[in-house]
Amino acid sequence: MAGKRVLLIVGGGIAAYKCLELIRRGQERGLAFRCVLTASGAQFVTPLSLASLSGDKAFTDLFSLTDEAEIGHIRLSREADLVVVAPATADLMAKMAAGMADDLATTLLLATDKPVLIAPAMNPRMWGHPATVRNLARLRADGVRVVGPNPGDMACHETGSGRMAEPHEILGAIEALLAPADRSLAGRRAVVTSGPTREAIDPVRYLSNHSSGRQGHAIARTLAEAGAEVTLVSGPVREPEPVGVRTVHVESALDMLSAVEAALPVDVAVCAAAVADWRPAAVTRRKLKKEEGAGPPALELVENPDILRTLARRDTHRPELVIGFAAETGDLEAKARAKLARKGCDWMLANDVSPGTGVFGGASNRVLFLTVEGGSERWPELDKGEVARRLVARIAARLRGEGDRG
Ligand code: C5P
Repeated sequence: MAGKRVLLIVGGGIAAYKCLELIRRGQERGLAFRCVLTASGAQFVTPLSLASLSGDKAFTDLFSLTDEAEIGHIRLSREADLVVVAPATADLMAKMAAGMADDLATTLLLATDKPVLIAPAMNPRMWGHPATVRNLARLRADGVRVVGPNPGDMACHETGSGRMAEPHEILGAIEALLAPADRSLAGRRAVVTSGPTREAIDPVRYLSNHSSGRQGHAIARTLAEAGAEVTLVSGPVREPEPVGVRTVHVESALDMLSAVEAALPVDVAVCAAAVADWRPAAVTRRKLKKEEGAGPPALELVENPDILRTLARRDTHRPELVIGFAAETGDLEAKARAKLARKGCDWMLANDVSPGTGVFGGASNRVLFLTVEGGSERWPELDKGEVARRLVARIAARLRGEGDRG
């Protein structure tokens, strides 16, 4: 990324102090920074400290006539290779989501034609507020990339998710964004399952599993970014549909299997869905009544098809690469290896989901990567997007006929 130019927009939050470190560490990697401060950002760091570190003027005022004459806010945003907003406050995210442009920072964000990366930082309740959740989904759908926030203690003495990502994490995200476009899967086809399934008991009740769909969706998005033609078969999730991916929405395991089979032939299948193992033997058309004194109804269950196993053991159109996930509590490697053999797939990404690991719905994963040929690799704790990138790089290498056979 040497020689790349970052336009850094510093919002108003205590995490703004981390920007100084971000600039320092980024410069070590060859990045050049030009900074813009929002009015509230300027309450936390001074234009002088940003200007001294970046070696360039720090911009603050939309209506500074000299700046307008010398540079212009449109040019300011066009001259960069990437726009980074750190910290991205709830207010700044709301303005971005709404397309507002009432100061220099928001005007630049609306005028830019470059990738935008935000590092949100705010009080955990603000981060969890439906308005922020809505704004985040809107921004993601608009193509804005997001790094963090992380869980932990906050400056406001609360604990929860809302700490801005650390400078090295933000730089990792910058690096991923500035990497030359990888089209290594152009001409390849992929199917990805994601999210939970819902197995109807009656018109209002269902059986389901925990699954946010974050990992599966990230894999589908990354495969598409690498040029693959991707069908994402998704159970009910709150994740937005990834850009450039054909998303098929399903509820039950049976529907998921049909949608996956309809997407064949493919070169690679990634089964990241948390499919319900069983479904009620019969779905009643009427809502089951809670009768006084009658006790709970007996629920007869039948087994659902195993989508991963079905794909891996097909005689025709068996994808060249079939990849599964294993969520286990304890004894990870032995259990995951046994599962890999039982299902007949090629690779397995195993996770420890013991209570306290925070994998379900969390932003990161600690993966044990296993191959049918006996390969075993422990990946460090990685953001789910980074897990997707590593996996997609592996997939591309394997389809090119390189390595990873153990
Ligand atoms: O057997 P278990 O549910 O632990 O296996 C997990 C792996 O199998 C995941 O890749 C999951 O997507 C896949 N699976 C499936 N269909 C099922 C059950 C699991 O595709 N019915």
